[in-house]
Amino acid sequence: MNNAPIGVFDSGVGGISTLHACMDALKNESFVYLADRSGMPYGNKSHGEIASRVDACVETLLAEKVKAIVVACNTATNVGIKMLREKYRIPFVGVEPAVKPAVEACKHGNILVLLTVATAAQSKFQELVSRWDNGRLIIAPQHDLAEQVENRIDDISALRCEVHKILSRYRRVEGVVLGCTHYVFLRPLIDEFYDGRIKIFDSGVGAAKRLGFLIKENALETDSYRRSLKFLVI
Ligand code: DGL
Repeated sequence: MNNAPIGVFDSGVGGISTLHACMDALKNESFVYLADRSGMPYGNKSHGEIASRVDACVETLLAEKVKAIVVACNTATNVGIKMLREKYRIPFVGVEPAVKPAVEACKHGNILVLLTVATAAQSKFQELVSRWDNGRLIIAPQHDLAEQVENRIDDISALRCEVHKILSRYRRVEGVVLGCTHYVFLRPLIDEFYDGRIKIFDSGVGAAKRLGFLIKENALETDSYRRSLKFLVI
């Protein structure tokens, strides 16, 4: 048993979508959410810059005495999860673009994978693609979409034109993979563009399931019925 909180971080608000999924799945656990706004956007940074932001986030969360950490960012996971697992002893959960579930569910049409430039450049992502490539994956890195979501989080509909402009290049798709946690907030706009006819995939529920498994496997479950939630911004 362990009543310490679980840490979750991203470059900004994006990881809150993952936090929701984790809080839903682990009803009694407490959480600390860290938004690295001074590191935002990760998606246009170099490997080394992202790795040092990831390290700063983990150190900040460890100072909060967390018992496990969810890297609620595809970009940070692709760059840093291996290094984190080697360096620290607590369990880490990462998120990666939901390419596998999309390939399994979309049997005929194209699958549009929206992600950051930095994620698309990582060898971890390229390995994922080569494992699941069925000739129908469209990899579409976006330069500043995460930053736009961050800046418009109070009025996401203001991004309607921008999102529809991006999607108008990819009209014939069967599924869309949201390969950046910020893009999860764009789901209603994407759904609207395709008139609700396509499948949309994100990594939140998968990460929450994995977190539940690791908490159990490492005997880290809380026995408290009073959960807490704390937000930090650096
Ligand atoms: N939300 C992050 C991800 O999942 C990236 C956002 C950023 O570019 O900082 O990739």
